[in-house]
Amino acid sequence: MKIEIDKLISHLKTQGFVFPGSEIYGGLANSWDYGPLGSEVKNKLKKLWWDFFVRRNEYNIGLDSSIILNPKVWQASGHLGNFNDPLIDCKKCKSRFRADKLIEEKFSDMNVGGWTNQKIEDFIKDKSINCPKCNANDFTNIRQFTLMFKTNQGVVEDEASTVYLRPETAQGIFVQYKNSQRALRKKLPFGIGQIGKSFRNEITPGNFIFRTREFEQMELEFFFSPNDTNDWFEYWLKKVKFFLEKIILIDKKNYSIREHKKDELAHYAKRTVDIEFDFPFGRGELWGIAHRSDFDLKQHQTHSGQDLSYLDPETNEKYIANVIEPSVGVERLLLAIFCQSYVEEKIDNGERIVMKLPYQLAPYSIAIMPLQKQQNKRANELYKELLLDFDATFDETGNIGKRYRRQDAIGTPYCITIDFDTEKDNSVTVRNRDTMNQERIEIKNLKQYLLAKIF
Ligand code: GAP
Repeated sequence: MKIEIDKLISHLKTQGFVFPGSEIYGGLANSWDYGPLGSEVKNKLKKLWWDFFVRRNEYNIGLDSSIILNPKVWQASGHLGNFNDPLIDCKKCKSRFRADKLIEEKFSDMNVGGWTNQKIEDFIKDKSINCPKCNANDFTNIRQFTLMFKTNQGVVEDEASTVYLRPETAQGIFVQYKNSQRALRKKLPFGIGQIGKSFRNEITPGNFIFRTREFEQMELEFFFSPNDTNDWFEYWLKKVKFFLEKIILIDKKNYSIREHKKDELAHYAKRTVDIEFDFPFGRGELWGIAHRSDFDLKQHQTHSGQDLSYLDPETNEKYIANVIEPSVGVERLLLAIFCQSYVEEKIDNGERIVMKLPYQLAPYSIAIMPLQKQQNKRANELYKELLLDFDATFDETGNIGKRYRRQDAIGTPYCITIDFDTEKDNSVTVRNRDTMNQERIEIKNLKQYLLAKIF
């Protein structure tokens, strides 16, 4: 998979997948909007995740919590104290960087997670790491920079009205753990899944939609007894791999698994594994799976004064549940899918760009095309019929070759052409996006044919 990211970005913009945010006002740095086709793919991806991790899992239930929570939540979770990145300035050109990333970008096999600021500063000096912008070697000391987005609730702007936009969806789940468990009469083990926006005032956003300040997360918090001997970490790691390979068809060759070393683990984590994807700009974290122990529930129990323990109905024992958390960013997963799907191909009569999206994620499953104007009426009838079962589009402009290229470029798996013979043989030509093979199918069998191919 060797693609140029700039070509992909330009393609996604022209075809209506992803637009630069606020573009008519000169843009807003590192913000992106999802266009008519991008929003379709994004919604389909979220639905596949929700179906797999929430609706069709025997243990799990879903939740939709608020973005703005009581600030005490962030005190308890540790975000107000610890959710910082090490910020360093180049004294010469005044550019700002994440000090840990300066090292990791220079030495791609290094992971600086868990290092003290002093160790990072010393390493930058010892290895003479220069400013990536002006090449000077004159940095300030590291300062901790909070990633929390602050705002005020209500009419008075003071300390008491300060609230934060959530930096992860997970805490909303912990806060509603007890209500959810009681209302649904859930017994351990069970999980709560949530999809929603998160906000982080990242020092160095970038690489297109890989790291942004506003993004969506799909998170599952899976609660289990500390006495449970099942390996739930492996269970969820397997589920994540299954989802990647079998549901959204991410090629095994394009991702790898990285186990966090002991000194790199977050303070609350017993074990963490990152699934990393080979993006065109390098390998990057796609999906994290963490064993968060009983840290979060214990913290919320202490700070709220509410009992968040679980009374085991079989043993009559009371304990705080442990948690496994698989967490992924919607846009990052989308970027991986876009990178893997974008293909430039030489064909007999020239070249084509095809988005080889998994069929279930393509904005349209089928395109209906009358060969000439005379067939418009029949084609329109068929289009309306097929819309009842498929995400269909109607394409009547340009010659048929151009129309195929257009549908290839947005990833439509099947094009259906109504031609001169349709009146006589009640059949249409069905053309496959990837093989470009064409088949003549009787209209009465078309729905079954497509259902079998697409779903
Ligand atoms: N609740 C755990 C948590 O939030 P994380 O590793 O900080 O863990 C989980 O984030 C996932 O969210 C990442 O693996 C990534 O896919 C996505 N993510 C995190 N920060 C992001 C950002 N600034 N832009 C886009 N996606 C991001």
